[in-house]
This record gives sequence, structure tokens and C-alpha cells, in this order.
Amino acid sequence: MMMEYFFSIPKKSVHRYFLSNSVPASINFSIMIGIHYLMGTPEIFTTVFASGLASLPYYLLFPLKLLHELKHKQNFLAYRDDPNWNRNWKMDTFSTPYSVEDFLLCVKHNIFSPSNKHKELSKYMPQNSSLNKIEPKIKFGFLGDLMPLMGCNWVISEDSKEFFSDIDYLVCNLEGVLYKADIFVAFSLLHTEEILLHLQEFLPAEKIILSLANNHGADGGYTNYKKTVSRLREMGFKVIGGRDDASLKINDAVNIVAATKWSNQAHGYLSFLEHSDKHFDPNAKFNLLFAHWGYELELYPRPEFIDEAKNYISKWGSIIGHHSHMPSPVTTVNGKLLAYSLGNCVTGLGFNHFHHGIALKLELGPDNNNEWKVGEVNWRYSCIKKVKKTLNYDLSEEFQWFS
Ligand SMILES: [Fe+2]
Repeated sequence: MMMEYFFSIPKKSVHRYFLSNSVPASINFSIMIGIHYLMGTPEIFTTVFASGLASLPYYLLFPLKLLHELKHKQNFLAYRDDPNWNRNWKMDTFSTPYSVEDFLLCVKHNIFSPSNKHKELSKYMPQNSSLNKIEPKIKFGFLGDLMPLMGCNWVISEDSKEFFSDIDYLVCNLEGVLYKADIFVAFSLLHTEEILLHLQEFLPAEKIILSLANNHGADGGYTNYKKTVSRLREMGFKVIGGRDDASLKINDAVNIVAATKWSNQAHGYLSFLEHSDKHFDPNAKFNLLFAHWGYELELYPRPEFIDEAKNYISKWGSIIGHHSHMPSPVTTVNGKLLAYSLGNCVTGLGFNHFHHGIALKLELGPDNNNEWKVGEVNWRYSCIKKVKKTLNYDLSEEFQWFS
């Protein structure tokens, strides 16, 4: 009863979970200590600690059962359909986009090691592949997540610049915003403009498409999101990922749509994955979905994620994914490109498992039936080598983590 009561107070699932086990546990243990004290029990704390350990599984698991039951009753994502989305939303100091189960898994993978599960279910295609015979018209490059430099200097290798030297446009996920929220937001990602200056070592800003459709795009709140978009456009970048500007049509041919499955904050002003079909352009020669999805620090997609991805790619020309902070398989489905996650391009974080990504480029053009398809695909693993405050970015043939 007590757990159910405290479970019912907060609105967020993570808050429900922790409040419903921490408060009743504290009350119960306090009562037990009091009773043992009155009884004159020797070694009170050892006795209470031992019985506490015995009841730990109950305190950890029962709130999960309550969450499962609640999930079937409520639509947690209803806020995303709010027609009154064009406004500042109430922000949370502590928030996560995940269910409690996935949150705990994420913590575990951060503390111990990224997950290598489901390796057998998906395979990388060769680093240089030809998916279809086409007449190449346009070439795009893609980087992994751009995370804040955190005061570090980003040094980009000449080999990686050479790899991207023949692309027409570069597409990247900018994880976070340029301006911070009025309140403290735990784990928020805040960029400085330095990362944007370095990015232009690949291509001029007007040839770079930045997506803000990610779980940290709302870390600063609506006003600061709009300020970020304005500043990026002022610097010359093309920006996508907002609810009313989710997509961009390049050369009047290729429609790139950015969308996120995850959001740390509850709001309605970014482009969400479940709405991505609205931005599909039937008049475009090719539609590409740039999706922020998957699960953090999981190297291979889960079976249900594979099903989800295959469902989406049945409608789209190709999908390039990101968010997991780890490289995931670059695959092909019926001649279409499906890259589950490009990992991280750059981050000032010191943990080695955040330093790996994928640099990818693809060419598009018409085949013999004048149907636009993906032709050549080239991809390489990328790696950050952090030396003091310098982040050395380079490409490599192999992925060092599990090889
Ligand atoms: Fe993310």
C-alpha cells in the first residue's frame, strides 16, 4: 500500500520508481531500528541491514511491476501531440527518456561495459559497397554524434578530411544546444561555438546540415532552442529537426527528414519519430530519414529495434541512425541503406567507450528506370584519442572495442 501511494505521487516514471522504493524502505527500516532498540536487541544495525538485504529484491522489483501496469493504462507520449506546442514547457531538473528498465540498463553499461548482445542478428556490410547501379548525382557524408567538447580542443586528421573530400553535403546530429536553461538540468548538453568552427574544416557551413532532433535538443527550453537554431543559421549552417522545420530538400531532389524517438524533456517542438511520415515528400526523388533512436551503449540492435527499423525502411529510401554513442551495424535492406547508429564523432567526455563512431558517405542518383537509389557506400570507423585537453579525431579500419 505504502509503495503504491508513493508511486502515485510523481508524474515521471523514473521519479515514481525511486520515490516508491526509497521512501517506504526508509520508513520501514527506521521503524525496525526503533523496535529493535526498544527490545534491546544487540547489534541492531547488523540485524536490520541483514533483513534489509533480504527484502531488497522486493523494493527493486515491485515498482517495476507497477510501472508495467501503468504503461498499459497511460499514453506517456501524449504531450508530443499537443497542438499548443509552440511555447515554453515546464522543464525537469532530473529526467531521462527511458523506461526504468532501460535507464537501469544504461547505467549498467556506463559503469561496466557496453552491451555486445544480439551480435548474431545483424552484420556490417563491407566498408566499400555498391548497393545499386546508378548515375551518381549527389554525395552525402555523415558523422557520428557531435557532443560538447567540454573545453577540449578538437583536432581533425587530414585522412578524415580526405575521406570526405568528394562529398557535396555533410549531415550531423548536434546533440544539445548552445544556450542553457534558466533552471539546473542534470546531464544537459551545452555546446560552445568552437565545435562549429572546427566542423567547417570538412566543408563550408552552407554545405553542412545539422539536426537538433535528439533527446538533448530541448535541454535549454523552447526559447533557447529557437536561439540556437537562429545562431546556427546566422553562422550559415542548414538546420533541421524542429516540428515545423523537420526536413530540407537538397538540390530539389533529396528530402532529408530528421526525427527523434527520445526526448529528455516533455515538449512538443522537436520532430518526433512517430510523426516522421508527415515529412515524407512524395515529390522528392529520394527520401532519407535521419533518425535519433536505439539504446545507449548497445553495440547491436535488439530484435524489436530491428523490427522497428525494418518497418520504417519499408517506407523510406534509406535511414541513417544515431544516439547510442556506439557504432552499430551499417546494413542493407532490399538495396536500401540502413545504418543503425554512427556512434560518437567527438566528445570531451573521458570514458573510452564514448570515443568511437562511424564516418559514412553515400552517393545517390537515378538507376536505369530513372528511380533514385543509393549507389556507392563507403564507411570507416572513427576514433577519438584524448591526450590531456586535445581530442584527436581519426578514421580506422577496425573497431577497437570488441575486436
Ligand atoms: Fe541522444
